[in-house]
Amino acid sequence: MRTNEVLFYGRPAEDVLSMFGLSDDLQGLQGCKVLDCPGGPSSFTAFLAAAGIDAVACDPLYALSDAQLRLKHAAAQALLRPITKDSDPADWLDRKHAHQRSAFEIFLADRGACPQRYLAEALPCLPFPSSHFDLVLSGHLMFSYASVEEGGLMVSDGLDLDWHHAALIELCRVSKLEVRIYPAHTCALIAERHHYAKWLLNHLPLGWNGEFTTPHYFQGMIGCTDGLRLWRGGG
Ligand SMILES: C[S@@+](CC[C@H](N)C(=O)[O-])C[C@H]1O[C@@H](n2cnc3c(N)ncnc32)[C@H](O)[C@@H]1O
Repeated sequence: MRTNEVLFYGRPAEDVLSMFGLSDDLQGLQGCKVLDCPGGPSSFTAFLAAAGIDAVACDPLYALSDAQLRLKHAAAQALLRPITKDSDPADWLDRKHAHQRSAFEIFLADRGACPQRYLAEALPCLPFPSSHFDLVLSGHLMFSYASVEEGGLMVSDGLDLDWHHAALIELCRVSKLEVRIYPAHTCALIAERHHYAKWLLNHLPLGWNGEFTTPHYFQGMIGCTDGLRLWRGGG
């Protein structure tokens, strides 16, 4: 798959929990402040809030109206359908799209009810004080939207290594404890660790540590489908 822009495509909350390795850890998030950036059209923030967790999502497209977002979401789904179908059973893909539409409706309803949870902000500059969140999550933006030549999806003006470095520094700045990023692999059927991710692990902000993680999350790619987990301090 190839694209000219970052797609407004989002996953249901259970997929997000799975890709960040949080499925068995919801209890552990009680009392935490969580940031999801980019939030996209995902039901994740609504799900966390319903579970009593203090959650905020940022995405520049949150500046758009519901009607504009519906168009963006439909366009993203239409673009993804024929490409992922090659590598997935057809039934599975149809169910996945239905789940995503349902996640999108949950997102829109929650945004309507609690707009303060959905901020129109963009990496690499977030409007939060340092260490504002306990846990910061970032899914399907970093690495995925590097240029095609660099293992991403963008045919032109992909997010380059300098942008990734600035974005990672910002995600770490606003987190008190931990940052999780998914995926950290190339966008290929047989995926590999993205070379930007390897570079970033060797250039973490002072006081941060990190490792590749292997969540049990399948989105049609095989090979190395790792994510990144970063934490402040030793251990
Ligand atoms: C593919 S969606 C990912 C949504 C969700 N995190 C997930 O994993 O399903 C990518 C999102 O990134 C947003 N985006 C684009 N540029 C961004 C930036 N500079 N900072 C934050 N979000 C951005 C897009 O608007 C889009 O909603």
